[in-house]
Amino acid sequence: MRYDCLASTNDLAKEMAASGASEGVALLAREQTAGRGRLNRSWSSPPGEGLYLSLILRPQIKVAESTVLTLAAAVAVAETLTLDYQVAADIKWPNDILAGNRKICGILVESSIEQDSLQYAVLGIGVNLKQREFPPEITETATSLFLESGQMIEPEEFLPHLLERIETWYRLVTSAPAAVIARWQALSSFARDCQVSVSSREGVLVGTTRGLRPTGALLIELEDGQLREIVSGEVRRVCKG
Ligand code: BTN
Repeated sequence: MRYDCLASTNDLAKEMAASGASEGVALLAREQTAGRGRLNRSWSSPPGEGLYLSLILRPQIKVAESTVLTLAAAVAVAETLTLDYQVAADIKWPNDILAGNRKICGILVESSIEQDSLQYAVLGIGVNLKQREFPPEITETATSLFLESGQMIEPEEFLPHLLERIETWYRLVTSAPAAVIARWQALSSFARDCQVSVSSREGVLVGTTRGLRPTGALLIELEDGQLREIVSGEVRRVCKG
């Protein structure tokens, strides 16, 4: 379903999912006036400049397995950028897509949970495509497909490439989650031997990444050799690893 302007594709998708919309419904907006990101941030969504997409999914997985779903989405976006548009994409745990060390895509998965199983998940994806510049607060940290490669790609043109890759990786979330984890690790420079700090509600941890657990949690080795599983938080590279 295509919309000229929405507050947030995720908001409408959640309403539709709660009223019974079926798996696979896709909402695409040309503009969002209240695009949302993780950790209560906003997502800059000027008209026609980016892809603003939400997909309604009903995966047969447990809540503990839902991180793999977000990792699969990140793999699909990173592959689309790298293989279809020759933009070297990196993935920062769990699902920020970077190009030239700046954010080119963000993913926001919002789920409804009942008795430890997912009723539905809304997979929201924002990809910066045609922006030449960004609002001052993200000018140092954001980039677009145009800025990275000189290609002016319309959202409508990018969409089928992305959907095809999402379909492939989404199937594997239930049938072969280990393949999703392996591919994520292969695509991310943050997966192993990377010095990071992780900020979460519990405070800040500093350590070296040691790959992903089968659940999608990030394993960190602290300075004293202890291993910690990170299930949420903001990861930052401390120095090139
Ligand atoms: C993040 O990096 O914090 C996640 C950003 C997610 C943005 C997308 S754009 C389409 C969908 N609708 C929203 O309001 N947010 C997501």
